[in-house]
Amino acid sequence: MKIVLTGGAGFIGMHMAARLMKEGHRVIIIDSLHTYYPEKRKRHHLKVINFPLKDFYQMDLLDRESIKDLMKEINPDAVIHLAALPGVAYSIEEPLTYVDYDIKATINILEACGEAGTNRFLFASSSSVYGDKPGAALKEEDADGKTVSPYAASKWSAESFCHMYAGMYGLHLNIMRFFTVYGPWGRPDMAIPKFIKKSLTGETISIFGADSGRDYTFIDDIVEGIYLTLLHGRGGETYNLGSGREVKMLRLLDILKSSFPSMKLDFTDYRLGDVLSTHSDISKAKNHLDYSPKTTIEEGLKKTIQWAENNEDFI
Ligand SMILES: NC(=O)c1ccc[n+]([C@@H]2O[C@H](COP(=O)([O-])OP(=O)(O)OC[C@H]3O[C@@H](n4cnc5c(N)ncnc54)[C@H](O)[C@@H]3O)[C@@H](O)[C@H]2O)c1
Repeated sequence: MKIVLTGGAGFIGMHMAARLMKEGHRVIIIDSLHTYYPEKRKRHHLKVINFPLKDFYQMDLLDRESIKDLMKEINPDAVIHLAALPGVAYSIEEPLTYVDYDIKATINILEACGEAGTNRFLFASSSSVYGDKPGAALKEEDADGKTVSPYAASKWSAESFCHMYAGMYGLHLNIMRFFTVYGPWGRPDMAIPKFIKKSLTGETISIFGADSGRDYTFIDDIVEGIYLTLLHGRGGETYNLGSGREVKMLRLLDILKSSFPSMKLDFTDYRLGDVLSTHSDISKAKNHLDYSPKTTIEEGLKKTIQWAENNEDFI
């Protein structure tokens, strides 16, 4: 297949591009190298996976006409739309920027797909669309739009635009809701990379809410989930892609302490926009896609720490 991967220079994108190339697909990356975290790091991602630069377009999806022209020129079989401005905390400061990068940019690529006659569209949504619903594992139908951050509200709105354009253009659409992804080359603003970096440099780690929990999902499992969605996703369906278990903050810290016994911790209050916990029910992805995440939190953290120790210049 010829596949356009938006956001392919980012964390999930670089791993996805490597997997698709390994499976023999032709991959074209569109990424603006947004400076939410350093452009240098994103260029390095492409180098690490030996991505052919002739198939990399540094372009902003907000540039509506250029994106339409490019999509007509490429004429891909499928688009995996990962590009977005991530991060809950920054979205509280700059809500309108998220309307641009997470909603308007999604509309532009959907419209460009429709006009180019692209058949297949996969959208990277987020567990944040569930809002704050601690307790039982969340099923896809539990999302009700009651979000608690501009990032989450933008993803929820973008999901709705995906359904709208899928109907209008007859796109085979899948929405994938990722749950806290971590692993080598993990995004530097996220908790696990921050904790590992601070443990390596001896800095104090701020813990926002000791009783929180997250469904941490190792990058290889997410990549497998996206690939299975591409192959087997049923038209119009939304899939939770998580690990299917919640890890409490204190357990995460205990596991990290076995590698960093002198970690320094400072417990503080929740941040606005953060949810207490996330926990995916992945039975639909299991049934429809045969999705079955394999990496335990202990194994995943071990691999991530090994990566960080070997790449201290980049963490
Ligand atoms: N990492 C997670 O835990 C997680 C969880 C849930 C959902 N997601 C979603 O998965 C996707 C990938 O996340 P990630 O963690 O790899 O983030 P990332 O920031 O590493 O990657 C996103 C990439 O998109 C690019 N981009 C942003 N706006 C763009 C635009 N307008 N035009 C072109 N390129 C643009 C950025 O330059 C970046 O390289 C995002 O949609 C994110 O919201 C991630």
